[in-house]
Amino acid sequence: MCGIVGYIGERDATPVIVNGLRKLEYRGYDSAGVAVLENGKIEVRREAGKISGLETLIQQSPLHGKIGIGHTRWATHGVPSQQNAHPQVGSTGKIVIVHNGIVENYLALKEELSSEGVEFKSETDTETIVHLIEHFFAVSQDLYGAVVETLKRIRGAHGIVVLSSDYPDQLIAARLGNAGGIAIGLGEGETFIASDLPALVEFTHRIVFLDSGEIAVVKKDSLEISTINGKKVKPVVQNVPWDPISAEKGLYRHFMQKEIHEQVRSLSDTLVGRVEFDNYSIVLPDLKCDQEKARSIQKIMITACGTAAYAGMVGKILLEKIARIPTEVIIASEFRYADPLVDENTVVLAISQSGETADTLAAMAEGRKRKATIWAIVNAIGSQAMRVADGFISMQVGPEIGVASTKAFTAPILNLYMLAVYLADLRGTLSKTRRIELVRDLLRVPGLAEKALSHEDEIMVLAEQYKHVRSALYLGRGINMPIAYEGALKLKEITYIHAEGYPAGEMKHGPIALVDKDLPVIALATQDAWYEKMVSQIEQAKARSGKVIAVATEGDELIPPIADAVFWVPKTPWLLSPVINVIPLQLFAYHIAVLRGLDVDQPRNLAKSVTVE
Ligand code: AGP
Repeated sequence: MCGIVGYIGERDATPVIVNGLRKLEYRGYDSAGVAVLENGKIEVRREAGKISGLETLIQQSPLHGKIGIGHTRWATHGVPSQQNAHPQVGSTGKIVIVHNGIVENYLALKEELSSEGVEFKSETDTETIVHLIEHFFAVSQDLYGAVVETLKRIRGAHGIVVLSSDYPDQLIAARLGNAGGIAIGLGEGETFIASDLPALVEFTHRIVFLDSGEIAVVKKDSLEISTINGKKVKPVVQNVPWDPISAEKGLYRHFMQKEIHEQVRSLSDTLVGRVEFDNYSIVLPDLKCDQEKARSIQKIMITACGTAAYAGMVGKILLEKIARIPTEVIIASEFRYADPLVDENTVVLAISQSGETADTLAAMAEGRKRKATIWAIVNAIGSQAMRVADGFISMQVGPEIGVASTKAFTAPILNLYMLAVYLADLRGTLSKTRRIELVRDLLRVPGLAEKALSHEDEIMVLAEQYKHVRSALYLGRGINMPIAYEGALKLKEITYIHAEGYPAGEMKHGPIALVDKDLPVIALATQDAWYEKMVSQIEQAKARSGKVIAVATEGDELIPPIADAVFWVPKTPWLLSPVINVIPLQLFAYHIAVLRGLDVDQPRNLAKSVTVE
C-alpha cells in the first residue's frame, strides 16, 4: 500500500524522488523518506507525517546525488515514526531498501538475525530484509545474489528496491506476489522506478512492469530482468498513454473534487472504442470472448472490495436483467474462504480500480484454481489484475488519486452495462430493437452526469446544514440499494461521520428504531419501479421525526412537500440511474469533509491500494 520511487540518471535524484513521492502520497501518508548516494556515501532523510515534513527536513539538510530511492508509508508494523519510516538502513550503512508488503515470517527471521548479533533499530518487518541482504552479502560479496537469497527466505508478497554504496551504478528492484506493482520507466540515459504510474508518466511513457517472482538490475541506460530462479526475462516495454496532467489537481482544490467533476469526461472516455455507432452494438475486444464462450457461461461471480464491490452489486442486476445470466457478488476478502461453487462454466469477474488489491487478486487466483474463466474490469494499466485475467475491460478513466473512489465507481457500472449488452447479443437473447434502445440510453449518460453536477451549489448549502451530524442513514431499493451503501461509505471514509447504507425495505425489521430528529435519512427515491415504496419509506421516517433528504427526479412534485430537502437529479433510464444518483452523494460527502476541515484526499488510516490482506 506504500509508495516506492527510485531514480538513476544524470539529474539531481532528490527532487525527482520527492516529486514522485508526492504523486504517490495517496498510497500511504504516515511517514516518508529518501536515500541518495552522495559522494560514495548513502545519505538518508526520513520524517514522520506527510511528505511536506520530509521536504522541510530536506530543505534544512539537503542531499544530492544521481541515484536514490524513496518511500511513502502506510504503517503495518510499528507506529508512524522517523525510525520506522523507510528507507530502512542495514548495520553497515551501505545498503538501504524501500519495501511494500509484509514479511510474514519476520519474527522468526528477527530472532535468527538477533542471535547473530544484529541490532534492530526499528519496529518494522522491513528491517529484517535489509539485514538479511547484508548477511548474505557478507558471505558472497554479490549484491544481486544476496537479494535473491533474501527473497527466497522472506514469506509474503513484496515489492522492494535496493540501493548499495558498493554498486553506485545500479538499483535492484524485485516483486514477489501481489503487494503492489513495480513499474520501471525508461528514459534517455535515465531510469525511473515506481510502485505506480503517476510518479513516472511525467518523465516517460515507456514502462516495463515486473511480474511476480522477477528481479531487475536497473541502470541508467540498461535494464536486465530475471526470475528469482535465474531464468532471463526479456523486458516487455509498454507504451502507457496516461497523460501527466490527469494526475494533477489543476484548478480544483482536491483530487476528489476534480475526479467527481471529471465524470462527465470519464463516463464518455469509458465508452470509447466500445460503442459501434453505425449499428448501436457493443464491442469488447480485450475480453476475448466469442459466441461459443458467451453461450457456455452458466454463472458470473463478481468479486471486488469496497466501492468496487458496490459497483458489482449494480452489475449483478444489469447482467441478470439484460443478459439473463445468473450472477452473484461475493466480497473478495471472503471468496477464497467460502469454498465457492465455481467450475469451468463460471466466469469470475473481478472489479478493481488499482488492479492490485490483495483480496481481489487472491479471489481471482482461487477462481483460476477452480477452472473458472477470469475476467477483470480494471483501471490501472499494466496492473496485476489486468495481466492475470483471461480477458479484461479497461475503465479508461485515467489515474484516480483521491483515496475515496468516485470516477472508478461510475465507470465500471457502465462497463458492466456494456458487458451485459455484449453478452446478451452474443448469446442471441437480445432483440435488435432492445439493443439499440439500451445503447442509446448509454450514450446519454455523460450529459446526464453533467446535469447532476450542476446542482453542486444546492448540495453545498445542505452540506453546511448537516456538517455536524453524528450519524446518517442511507436508504435505497433495487438497483439503487448499492448506491445507499456507496453513499454511506463515501460519507464515513472522508468525514468520519458514522453512516449506514440499508435496504429500505428492511427498515421496519429493526433500523427504524434509530430514527429521531437528529438522524438524517438520505433516501434514494428517483422514478423507477421502487419509487412508491421509497415514498412510503420517507413518510415512515418523517412520522418518527426523522430528517429526510431525498434524491429525486427533477420535476417530481410529490417528494418536496414530504422531504426536508432534495438532491435533484435528471430523469435517467432506471438501469443507469445508479451512475447519476451517486453524484449528489459524492458531492455531499466531499463538501461536508471540506467544511469539517478534513484531509479529503488522504483520509486517516486509509490508503488507495490495499495490497495487504
Ligand atoms: C473507495 O472509496 C475505497 N477507498 C475502497 O473501498 C476501494 O474501492 C477498495 O479498496 C477497492 O479498491 P480497488 O478498486 O483498487 O480494488
